[in-house]
Amino acid sequence: MKLTAKTKLCMVIGDPVEHSLGPAIYNVIYKRLGIDDQYVYVACRIDSDKLADFVKGVRAMGIMGVSCTIPHKEAVMKHLDSIDSIAAKIGAVNTIVNENGILKGYNADWIGAVAALEKLTNLHGAKVAILGAGGASRAIAYGVTSKGAQLTVYNRTLEKAEEIARLFGGRAASLDELSDVQSADIIINATSVGLSPNSDSTPLEKKFITNKHIVFDTNYTPYQTRLLSEASQKGARIIHGTEMFIYQAIAQFKVITGLDLSEDLLREVLQNVLDSRGETGVA
Ligand code: ATR
Repeated sequence: MKLTAKTKLCMVIGDPVEHSLGPAIYNVIYKRLGIDDQYVYVACRIDSDKLADFVKGVRAMGIMGVSCTIPHKEAVMKHLDSIDSIAAKIGAVNTIVNENGILKGYNADWIGAVAALEKLTNLHGAKVAILGAGGASRAIAYGVTSKGAQLTVYNRTLEKAEEIARLFGGRAASLDELSDVQSADIIINATSVGLSPNSDSTPLEKKFITNKHIVFDTNYTPYQTRLLSEASQKGARIIHGTEMFIYQAIAQFKVITGLDLSEDLLREVLQNVLDSRGETGVA
């Protein structure tokens, strides 16, 4: 790393944040692109009650770009100067850009999810079941319905699923109705169920998965979640959470640095990070 007095800070914030792939990946990419004198990337665990202070810090320190993860994607919005129109519609921000002191919020999650799905299938007319109704679910609901998919949102707290169905069009259902997913084309886990260290849990019983399904897990730690393992065993096609990470990262990199990040380079660096964590390939 070639840190100088001109190097700008970029960050990922969350609580927890230790699972984030960002620092391990972006600092290597800055180096490979020869911009490690311009940017450095660190993670910071921020308590929800310190979020306003953190944003003041972004302004005071001239932090260039911030990635937001659980649980700050919605709460951070009120502290920013402007919100991109799609992020406003989604109601969640995963990217903050400091444009000469003006803090603007964007959402790149929906771009990542749609790109990951469209590599495998056409979303127009597809029956999509999303499990969960938090920030990730809202972004994916926006993305898939904007491509013409038919949406059903299943959630433990039914009112939150109903709100998403009302906003983006579609049906809301409780987890008691999960056997319905057998008629869906695509099943997407946007709950935190199965996330490490609770990697022996799964949001969906294996008996509801068939070889006609595409099953996509937005969680990428572990790389191969129990849901994806069981979907593979049933002959379904699977999409790892790292695919969404890759395409949202490319969009986020562009908005923060103005540079195009090559997918091949990102896959290579991600593969190295997963290898060093003892996880399997990114394909
Ligand atoms: P994110 O911003 O990543 O979407 P979030 O807003 O915390 O994260 O949302 C987490 C989702 O996982 C929610 O839909 C939550 O259900 P509730 O809305 O009922 O809280 C869901 N979730 C978390 N733990 C769960 C569990 N043990 N069983 C079922 N759903 C769970």
